Amino acid sequence: MDPLRISLRPFKLSDVDDFLKWASDDRVTRYLRWNTITSREEALTYLEKVAIPHPWRRSICLDNRSIGYISIRPGSGDDRCRARVGYAVSSEYWGQGIVTAALKMAVSKVFDEIPELVRLEAMVELENKASQRVLEKVGFLKEGLLRKYGYCKGEIRDMFVYGFISTDEISSN
Ligand SMILES: CC(C)(COP(=O)(O)OP(=O)(O)OC[C@H]1O[C@@H](n2cnc3c(N)ncnc32)[C@H](O)[C@@H]1OP(=O)(O)O)[C@@H](O)C(=O)NCCC(=O)NCCS
Repeated sequence: MDPLRISLRPFKLSDVDDFLKWASDDRVTRYLRWNTITSREEALTYLEKVAIPHPWRRSICLDNRSIGYISIRPGSGDDRCRARVGYAVSSEYWGQGIVTAALKMAVSKVFDEIPELVRLEAMVELENKASQRVLEKVGFLKEGLLRKYGYCKGEIRDMFVYGFISTDEISSN
């Protein structure tokens, strides 16, 4: 995949049809906190009410068409130094290095764009090896195992916690 074809930008309502293509796939949403989107109307409402107003949510684009997302949600109050990272890409494009490239772009920008931010963290299910690999390729550190950390699709799950501090180096591999 030519990295020049990949870009990040805010979502637009006109992304609805491209968004629905990947957001309606249970394989894509399996490890996400949000549920599979099942209609164009629901997709429009999600873009309008969730994706567009989000403090830092970007569409991962291939040739400027939405094929996935990265979200970085800063905490508030005493938690404003850290933000939770989430991402997904259309299953059509898995294994081509797209999310690794996109997450590197996001990490390289977000500490400048949100000056109070010092730490990014990602919680990953134990069996989600592809996501763990992405985080390791970007330069996140696996910091530990959080037992019975939270619900995912109705079940309380153990999760690995990965962290990246503003002074860490994005991996060049
Ligand atoms: C996880 C996900 C984001 C990865 O995106 P991607 O663009 O395919 O990732 P990349 O191609 O950049 O890297 C994937 C890496 O995982 C590896 N991988 C994939 N499946 C694997 C598996 N079952 N076991 C071990 N490694 C695996 C790939 O080989 C690749 O590593 P490599 O470059 O060393 O070969 C994508 O699969 C996805 O959207 N999944 C559903 C949503 C999700 O799980 N989001 C994360 C929630 S924490």
